[in-house]
Amino acid sequence: RPHLSMHALDGLMVEGVPLHRVAALAGTPTWVTSAGALRRRARALKAALAAAGLQAGIHYAVKANTGLAVLRVLAAEGLGADVVSEGELRAARAAGIPAAAIVFSGVGKTERELRLALAEDIAQINVESAEEVEMLSALATTLGRVARVALRVNPDVDAKTHAKITTGRSENKFGVAIDDAPALYARMAALPGLEPVGVATHIGSQITSGMAAYRAAYVRLAELVQALRLAGLPVKHVDCGGGLGIPYRDEPAPSPEALAGAIKATLGGLGLPVMLEPGRWIAGPPGLLLASVVLQKQGAARRFLVLDAAMNDLVRPAMYEAWHGILPVSPVDFVAPVGPADVVGPVCETGDTFARGRAMPSLSPGALVAFLDAGAYGAAMSSTYNMRPLAAEVLVDGDRFAVVRERQSYAALLGDQRLPDWLTE
Ligand code: LLP
Repeated sequence: RPHLSMHALDGLMVEGVPLHRVAALAGTPTWVTSAGALRRRARALKAALAAAGLQAGIHYAVKANTGLAVLRVLAAEGLGADVVSEGELRAARAAGIPAAAIVFSGVGKTERELRLALAEDIAQINVESAEEVEMLSALATTLGRVARVALRVNPDVDAKTHAKITTGRSENKFGVAIDDAPALYARMAALPGLEPVGVATHIGSQITSGMAAYRAAYVRLAELVQALRLAGLPVKHVDCGGGLGIPYRDEPAPSPEALAGAIKATLGGLGLPVMLEPGRWIAGPPGLLLASVVLQKQGAARRFLVLDAAMNDLVRPAMYEAWHGILPVSPVDFVAPVGPADVVGPVCETGDTFARGRAMPSLSPGALVAFLDAGAYGAAMSSTYNMRPLAAEVLVDGDRFAVVRERQSYAALLGDQRLPDWLTE
């Protein structure tokens, strides 16, 4: 995490900005993203793909972090977007990502969403079922448009990640079975309003178990492409999905070079351009969640550090038993002796626990802590549970920093509710 450093006077810094200054400006809890780290990671991924001799387009999976400032930084690096909803499509366009660089994925795109995708003339729609193929053909024909479509196949491989985020097994809802793919692809070529452009897969997220699952999936994809070509069907590119894991703790995680090598070895022989949909690998490490200690409480059996951030902000520990590094921000706290503590939020559920028995110093009310590697599926998954406003977001860029999303106001939090007149008469 080259964007993070600990300074004797200023404590934990993101690039050139001490986090205590961010807290003074924006309060806590606040998401903090390093623009420099986003750029560095985008470039590293591009370089790894180029070094493997691949012609590759990167479509950042917007779901990981939907912040407009994040999208803008990545757009300036030439990344496209992989979106899964009308909201994400709008966010990508609002951040300046051209429609020609946008791919639409998802198992349940609504007619309204497909209509918008066609009106915007985005690069590609990844279809996932025979039903969607028929619906999209009819819709495109009615609108006088041609949808460029890729067929997402489910290769039935085990990505060996958390069960809630594995997507490439036959029992998962995603994609069409590889055996059904040739007939459906032929149907796509025959129907009006559709232009089949390729095949796609995505086998899961936070893949850290090496390249075996990726390779198995891509080998099947390569065989499928060959079968489609033999049948005289056009295939212009292959969408390899996302899923590249990051080390949250010290676990070994595959490098972009390893992924590029696996793609080259399995799909390289086809001589086709490839697309990637990375989310976490790009956006995870550059982001952190800055929180304050509300109080430290000695329970009967355990010490609790109660923070002003909660599971509504960062849900990954509660939802996936995920581990995030937690660092004290002050230089004094950073070197203080540590002992086991449960780091918890104030929400009224025992599941509102970020870490159990974590080695942490004794911290006073107001002390700042930072949750590391929280840039992906952090802010993007937050909610207002317990009527807690959505946290602020800050972008750091060198020595500069700015609030890029205001903390949600209570007016906004309450403002879209209505009481029916019969309750107020
Ligand atoms: N493409 C598709 C079609 C996807 O469904 C996903 C993620 C990605 C790309 C990006 O995957 P990534 O490179 O970020 O692994 N909330 C969970 C992760 C859910 C991932 C969903 N799909 C978490 O916090 O771990």
